[in-house]
Amino acid sequence: MRLLLLCFTLFSLSFGSYDDGKKLYIQKACGNCHGAKLEGMHMYPSLANRAKGFLSYKLKRFRSKISDNQQQEMMIPFAQNLSDKDIDDLTLYMNEFIDSVNKERYDTSFAVEGDGGS
Ligand code: HEC
Repeated sequence: MRLLLLCFTLFSLSFGSYDDGKKLYIQKACGNCHGAKLEGMHMYPSLANRAKGFLSYKLKRFRSKISDNQQQEMMIPFAQNLSDKDIDDLTLYMNEFIDSVNKERYDTSFAVEGDGGS
């Protein structure tokens, strides 16, 4: 049992928590630029369902004040105070993001049958 608990702790430590990531995303106002649904907006990249490894690579680079262009410098202050756990949580949330508000709208069982009567 203790071993199982240890495994579980290690598992959650190394892969983060979706809910904690969601909280952080809201708390740190990431959505102001990247969108409440992580959909991105003109110069701000979409973050939803992208590779966790890539996202954490980028966040860790920003945290170390490395940017490849002037635009990315905008991210440095937002990444600066993130801990490794924060990055794990955030990237898990982004990678597994599910739009729970709009999910049903795209449920195919709502599809209209026939030609709509025209
Ligand atoms: C002030 C606007 C702004 C805020 C707030 C912001 N970002 Fe960004 N983010 C950017 C810009 C600009 C880029 C770089 C776009 C580029 O590479 O051209 C970026 C890039 C990124 C990338 C890399 C994506 C890629 O495709 O290269 C990640 C990951 C990211 N942001 C996550 C976050 C997280 C997590 C937060 C909240 C802690 C956050 N951002 C808050 C503007 C913002």
